[in-house]
Amino acid sequence: MSKKIFSGVQPTGNLHLGNYLGAIKNFVDLQKDKDNSCIYCVVDLHAITVKQDPKILKKNIRETTASFLASGLNSSKSIIFNQSKVPSHAEGSWLLSCVARMGWLNRMTQFKEKAGHDKEKASVGLYIYPVLMAADILLYDATHVPVGEDQKQHLELTRDIAQKFNTDFNCSDFLKIPEPLIQKDFSRIMSLRDGTKKMSKSDPSDQSRINITDTKDQIVNKIRKAKTDSKPLSENVSDLEGRPELKNLLGIFSSLQNQDLDVSTKEFAGKNFSELKEKLAEVLVEKIHPISNEINKLLKDYKYIDKILLEGSIKAEKISKKKVSEIKTKIGF
Ligand code: AMP
Ligand code: TRP
Repeated sequence: MSKKIFSGVQPTGNLHLGNYLGAIKNFVDLQKDKDNSCIYCVVDLHAITVKQDPKILKKNIRETTASFLASGLNSSKSIIFNQSKVPSHAEGSWLLSCVARMGWLNRMTQFKEKAGHDKEKASVGLYIYPVLMAADILLYDATHVPVGEDQKQHLELTRDIAQKFNTDFNCSDFLKIPEPLIQKDFSRIMSLRDGTKKMSKSDPSDQSRINITDTKDQIVNKIRKAKTDSKPLSENVSDLEGRPELKNLLGIFSSLQNQDLDVSTKEFAGKNFSELKEKLAEVLVEKIHPISNEINKLLKDYKYIDKILLEGSIKAEKISKKKVSEIKTKIGF
């Protein structure tokens, strides 16, 4: 079956291994299937739900686009654009915010995490962020949305919004109900300092993550210092429970090698952490370093990046404008 793929990544600075393995690597795999039509968006409107420095935001939009291209996304196969260039997203978001219910948004765990203790001080944008995400997806009739595990709840909300719109306006199947595409084993890449915490841009310790732009030495060093436990490596996948750091390192290795977790577990069974770390660092340098070289090369020619984004936004606008217009007709405008 041909799939319509849509996904987005925020331009909020250093992309890390979690973004790459949890999202971008999938984007590239999906693009390889000729039956799929793929749209990948740098979601800069989502980024401003928290404070941004205008100059750094501009740099990050280009850097995230460069990361897409360096990882293997191709603008002649996929539509690559940034959200703020396509007004339909903001317009669609308003229309859908009148369908979404407060009670649904109140359940969103990402808002609770990001808003922290002082919810009164969070931006209104941060609260309705999932509605903008729903608009992103629904305006393109996306059938499948590749994301990390942390976005599953937002996808469920998107489905609820689509269903309620179709019911309220008596137009079943008008807004398409999208399916999440979440990798089975490697949907959550964890911090290198604490295997129970997600690898994240916002972790104050740079040692906790591999950035897509890290040098060879940084990669090797971070893996060497990664937290471990004191036992030899497990024989079976079932023995990985309760050993989050080991599970994470083996998971990263498996994902990079495109092999199942149990194959990697068997490969290192009974060995020491140092052997796993050495091999993992080798594979990481082999797979991640060329991407970082390519990003740096691309960033020297930002006009080229801007041109890709402009061309992508023209294609995206054409599709989403039509859908917004149809939504408005259903509503009665
Ligand atoms: P963000 O940077 O939060 O916009 O995330 C971009 C994409 O990367 C989303 O699909 C996330 O689910 C995914 N992602 C972010 N952090 C991780 C992680 N630690 N493990 C797996 N996927 C992640
Ligand atoms: N909210 C997503 C994240 O933080 C990014 C995002 C915005 C997205 N719009 C989307 C992902 C549409 C998939 C589809 O990771």
